[in-house]
Amino acid sequence: MKSVKPLLEVKNLHTHFFTKAGVVRAVDGVSFDVKPGETLGIVGESGSGKSITAMSILGLIPSPPGKIVDGEIIFKGDNLLKKNERQMRQIRGKEISMVFQDPMTSLNPVFTVEKQMVETILAHENMTKKQAKDRATELLNLVGIPDPNKRLKNYPHEFSGGMRQRVMIAMALSCNPSLLIADEPTTALDVTIQAQILELFKKMQKELDMAIIMITHDLGVVSEVCDRVMVMYAGKPAEFTETKRLFDNGKHPYTIGLMNSIPKITPNKEKLQPITGLPPDLRSLPTGCSFAPRCKHVMESCLTHDPTLSKVDDNHLVRCLLYEQTKKAVTT
Ligand SMILES: Nc1ncnc2c1ncn2[C@@H]1O[C@H](COP(=O)(O)OP(=O)(O)OP(=O)(O)O)[C@@H](O)[C@H]1O
Ligand SMILES: [Mg+2]
Repeated sequence: MKSVKPLLEVKNLHTHFFTKAGVVRAVDGVSFDVKPGETLGIVGESGSGKSITAMSILGLIPSPPGKIVDGEIIFKGDNLLKKNERQMRQIRGKEISMVFQDPMTSLNPVFTVEKQMVETILAHENMTKKQAKDRATELLNLVGIPDPNKRLKNYPHEFSGGMRQRVMIAMALSCNPSLLIADEPTTALDVTIQAQILELFKKMQKELDMAIIMITHDLGVVSEVCDRVMVMYAGKPAEFTETKRLFDNGKHPYTIGLMNSIPKITPNKEKLQPITGLPPDLRSLPTGCSFAPRCKHVMESCLTHDPTLSKVDDNHLVRCLLYEQTKKAVTT
């Protein structure tokens, strides 16, 4: 297969929070790449470091207490960690933009959608106000908001949840970014609206040839839209492969646990099998594999040796001692 140069490469990223209660290792050795035009999913339980990974890419880690203590974030050949705030502001919104879970936290309730969209466009594009307004109308139309000229005059609260999310997506697309990071963009929406928004992402991606990082805790969303997926556990990648392969042949016990905890409609109504136990405290991670205390296949060596992300096949990486050909099982 022809190898495509990645648009984004995150290499060995470590983002920690230095709190009075200890060092929170929110992201602790994350590496992945995103190719132009692809959708990469990042999936994992609450607190696994998905949003902090995204915020690290965008240079939005609150400091103090947060700090990127190691790693590189290479975007279009440049290390973003070497950029200053002014340079990052140019990149955010223009080259890389973001859609958050709850649009009400990112839209300003006291301004009309027109004012907010026009300002965003003018901040990055060399346009007149009139041109920016035309662009805003065009974008609302693109994301499927009927009567866009009239709707521009509305305030955020005058839109339904699904429509507000469309407005957010339109704003994120306003400067034709080459990478869009969507952090749980459909979690707050009901399932029909969720399906519409996911369709919209797919359509936009095709039309605008942009890459997407889709952050979600929902494997259903991953199967709908992602080409490849990184499963995260306790600030580290547990598994990284193509979506189809993850669903057909997921290997990490955590990935399999996530799959078994999705409800399925089957004639014999199999019981859901939730992953028992809780994610670890990121301030005092266990010595070995951080998933070991919850793992059905835990071996003695898992308690002392933290596995590395290893290649089990082409385009398939797993961080588990079962795949590093090791020792005796403690329980099965
Ligand atoms: N400002 C902060 N100070 C201390 N710890 C923080 C701070 N922000 C985030 N963290 C911690 O970093 C870890 C990773 O958080 P993150 O928001 O990336 O999780 P997530 O995977 O996005 O979860 P969710 O699915 O709930 O959104 C969490 O344990 C969180 O408590
Ligand atoms: Mg999050």
